[in-house]
Amino acid sequence: MNIILLGAPGAGKGTQASKIAGKYKLLHISTGDIFRANIKGGTEIGKIAKSYIDAGKLVPDSVTCDIVKDRLTWDDARHGYMLDGFPRNLFQAQELDKFAHIDLCLNIDVEEALLMDRICGRRVCSCGESYHVSTLNGATTCAKCGKELYQRADDNPETVKARLDTYNTQTAPLIDYYKAQGKLAVVKSGEGSPDLVFEQICKVLGH
Ligand code: AP5
Ligand code: MG
Repeated sequence: MNIILLGAPGAGKGTQASKIAGKYKLLHISTGDIFRANIKGGTEIGKIAKSYIDAGKLVPDSVTCDIVKDRLTWDDARHGYMLDGFPRNLFQAQELDKFAHIDLCLNIDVEEALLMDRICGRRVCSCGESYHVSTLNGATTCAKCGKELYQRADDNPETVKARLDTYNTQTAPLIDYYKAQGKLAVVKSGEGSPDLVFEQICKVLGH
């Protein structure tokens, strides 16, 4: 099964992707993670992506679509995957339809008022886990692998405002795009804990 995880910045795409990967054994492909790894590695793609990510804007479609198109040809993508953060505008969705078959678009729906605190309070680990300061009880290391947690460079109020604006103008229209294809499922992530959101996702995915 091939799934898109749609949702605003901070909606919980990465959090749920980690749970879904554990239970359903789907490969997690996050374009944001790919860009951050390229920035850390000092690659050409990283150099292009950095200024856009710092400004809360989308990295150019030509760069992003090529990365995803190539990643889906790897062997590990043959048994099903989750796309987290792609597609992010109508052009990317139309391109994706040309090189992949998508079964389901899971929209994680959250009130915008909750997102600023979620993102600015987020602490992440290089292993992919993500936490919120309110549940860390002062811990500064990852509960899964023990490495030091850190804050993403784009998790500051000014960049978050720009990311939310980009989401509302460019990404939110994809909800209707996948609804029209009969592939949309919506889960609510308001007051519910990550586990409660995951329960809703399991109902959609079955077993
Ligand atoms: P990306 O890395 O995709 O970031 P994003 O979409 O802004 O989403 P986040 O990773 O911030 O949030 P999330 O939904 O994963 O939430 P999480 O689970 O961590 O993209 C970064 C940048 O890369 C973009 O701005 C763009 O520049 C570029 N980019 C990426 N893809 C691109 C593309 N396709 N085209 C062009 N450019 C692209 O959770 C957030 C916090 O909330 C955590 O602290 C978590 O613990 C907490 N939390 C999660 N669920 C719950 C819950 N149910 N209740 C309470 N707290 C919760
Ligand atoms: Mg994420």
